[in-house]
Amino acid sequence: MFRAVAYLSEQEARTLSAIFMEDETSGALASAALEESETRWFCEVLFDAAPEAATLDAYAHDMTGIEAAFQVSELPDIDWVAKSLEGLTAVTAGRFVVHGAHERASVPANAVGIEIEAGQAFGTGHHATTWGCLVAIDRLTRKRAYRHPLDLGCGSGVLAIGLAKVLRGKVLASDIDPVAVRVARGNARLNGASAFVTTVVAGGMRHRAIASATPFDLVVANILARPLRALAFDIAHAMAPGGDLILSGLRLADVRRIHATYRAAGFSRVAEIQRDGWATLVLRFGY
Ligand SMILES: C[S@@+](CC[C@H](N)C(=O)[O-])C[C@H]1O[C@@H](n2cnc3c(N)ncnc32)[C@H](O)[C@@H]1O
Repeated sequence: MFRAVAYLSEQEARTLSAIFMEDETSGALASAALEESETRWFCEVLFDAAPEAATLDAYAHDMTGIEAAFQVSELPDIDWVAKSLEGLTAVTAGRFVVHGAHERASVPANAVGIEIEAGQAFGTGHHATTWGCLVAIDRLTRKRAYRHPLDLGCGSGVLAIGLAKVLRGKVLASDIDPVAVRVARGNARLNGASAFVTTVVAGGMRHRAIASATPFDLVVANILARPLRALAFDIAHAMAPGGDLILSGLRLADVRRIHATYRAAGFSRVAEIQRDGWATLVLRFGY
């Protein structure tokens, strides 16, 4: 996969990112407008085949009048899961037990098993952020039957599969990385949840498949603080009033800033779960 990046103002990065997503002839797999610092943003676009930087610059100019200077690089093969699940023990998070094939038989009868095959996508349940999201999902779904959930940045699909199992309903699962989406689809099949988990390759919230599925009454996003801050208003725009949002991928030091950003976007704090220096936030929209 190839990554093209152009440093721009926030407005320019957002405009250009939206054009790459909306124009089917652009050839982009995904695009995002991301914040580098308080004053510097960039537009990131992913392609299957290597694009010419000059062609992208000309495209940006023709479509929007923006003077961009794209830099293109090849992304190394993603290998977030260095260790195979073999040898790892199952992880318990609330009602959920995330396990590999070798531990299928040991899942207690009253638990909700999520079988995850070691693959090239993040999310075996062992990381504190995935664990925090599963605990939050467990708590929230005991009190409320969500009908329109989204797993944004689904990785292995672990959260979407867990949601489909406890809600016994449909879940939309998206990821900017086509490899992760392929892995999530395989894991959904492995768990008998294919009919319930719909997957889409999409960066952020503006893809047609996501926009047309709004409003969501539950969004789970285990990404990282910086992209989550950039996505706050797009996520707010996609929420049903009173809908719940689970955010993870946050270091403890990120929490105050994330919280302030999401408060400005209309969310209030419901809970915070901490583990191993990572935080998972539960927020509610519009109440
Ligand atoms: C930390 S992993 C989380 C995986 C899984 N949801 C879990 O909780 O274990 C983050 C995932 O978000 C994806 N991602 C990062 N930025 C994204 C964006 N802007 N839009 C959609 N997905 C994104 C990555 O490709 C990666 O698969």
